[in-house]
Amino acid sequence: MSDIAIQYLPSSAADAKRLASKLGIAAHEIALHRFPDDEMRVTVGPTTSTTIIYASLDRPNDKLIAVLFAAEALRRQGSKRLVLLAPYFCYMRQDSAFHAGEAISQRAIGKLIVNTVDRVITVDAHLHRTHDIQAAFPGIEADNLSAMPAIMSTLRSDNIDPAAVVIGPDSEARQWVSRLAECLGLTYTVAQKVRYSDRSVEIRIANPSLFAGHPALITDDIVSSGGTLIACAKALSAAGATVIDAVVTHALFPPELMVAFTKAGIHSIRSTHSVPHATNTFVLDDLFASVLRCEFGDTIPFGAIS
Ligand code: R5P
Repeated sequence: MSDIAIQYLPSSAADAKRLASKLGIAAHEIALHRFPDDEMRVTVGPTTSTTIIYASLDRPNDKLIAVLFAAEALRRQGSKRLVLLAPYFCYMRQDSAFHAGEAISQRAIGKLIVNTVDRVITVDAHLHRTHDIQAAFPGIEADNLSAMPAIMSTLRSDNIDPAAVVIGPDSEARQWVSRLAECLGLTYTVAQKVRYSDRSVEIRIANPSLFAGHPALITDDIVSSGGTLIACAKALSAAGATVIDAVVTHALFPPELMVAFTKAGIHSIRSTHSVPHATNTFVLDDLFASVLRCEFGDTIPFGAIS
């Protein structure tokens, strides 16, 4: 049995293969067969003593089952260590029972995962009330990486207008906008968000004059329904922003939403490769390669990683 390889869900194929080639290790697709009644058969590739399961968990329900079954097969065939690399990790937002009777999805999924793999690696996990990723995955190793270095290194070479103002749509985004603005030498502010429903939000900008005659750069972790981005863009247009661009970590929205974004005055949206998407711009391979180094023991095959 060889030492280490990546096995990936078909939906993560391109990103997993690129990472495997950077690491100089094999990558095998986990084959999924759907039976007529919608049950699934999962077939893994050749077993290695350490296996990195690459599975970004957007639109997660089927993917979670596939990961669970793949882990069963890999363990039974002799894998000693399973590392789940899930650049987007699902169900982190429901970290509390907000109304009587609601399940705490984050907790339920956490229990499932800690009984399945030995380590979880993810990016910009949506942690609000659970401040430490370790608390979401008790008893196993868990890394919550920041996409900011990858985003910043691309934006630095972008010749951004020094008059641009960075804006986070809500207080949780302060951590990203402050870092980005500081790195690029730009001004920033954080808006106030009121969410009325899954798709309906209101954004209030306390200091709209900041944007009059200036380009705006919206920065957020997730775009899902697009409600936040659209409300933010409308508030920025009303404030007199000249151009509105957005950078996000996880693009979860359907491509047809681009029409609504354009209508709301958004000039561009760029996302990381955490979730395969037409807006993917910021590659996360260096980030993953450096955090995976320790899985290689003494035989690190990728000394050239920047
Ligand atoms: C919320 O706290 C997040 O940071 C995002 O702003 C939110 O998930 C975006 O969701 P949507 O696109 O559905 O408004």
